[in-house]
Amino acid sequence: MRFTVNGGLTDVAAVRSDTALDVLRDRLGLTGVKNGCAQGECGCCTILVDGEATKACLTSAKRLSGRTVTTIEGLAPADAPHPLQQAFVEIGAVQCGYCTPGQILTAKALLDRNPAPTRADVTAALSPVLCRCTGYVKRSQKNGPVVPT
Ligand code: FES
Ligand code: FES
Repeated sequence: MRFTVNGGLTDVAAVRSDTALDVLRDRLGLTGVKNGCAQGECGCCTILVDGEATKACLTSAKRLSGRTVTTIEGLAPADAPHPLQQAFVEIGAVQCGYCTPGQILTAKALLDRNPAPTRADVTAALSPVLCRCTGYVKRSQKNGPVVPT
């Protein structure tokens, strides 16, 4: 099958059971597409398909045919980081970094469709991408944030 990835046309063989994650990470060596769970739970494998944030582990490789795919490797040149990448560095958002490609590409998709998101918009958009390193604010069902002790 043929599709565009990070600005270049690529041809790759895929069998019916291959996911986009299999093809991008294992065949094309785009290891910025992380495999956190392979079950659609963590969002680490998020890529852009025609500009939409998409979980690669849940996407059949065949569905990439004719589409335009962006992985974190294609977001910007290595010597000129995308503003989102630079922002993650400047505010120290990265810990182990495993979720970071998915976080950044999900944020890119959000900003492309909504250049002025509210905090709630950001929270909703990023919620499918889990970070195993950070501390989440726990909320009880009824009483709002729980203060850590
Ligand atoms: Fe795809 Fe976890 S690896 S959602
Ligand atoms: Fe480690 Fe998010 S920085 S999983």
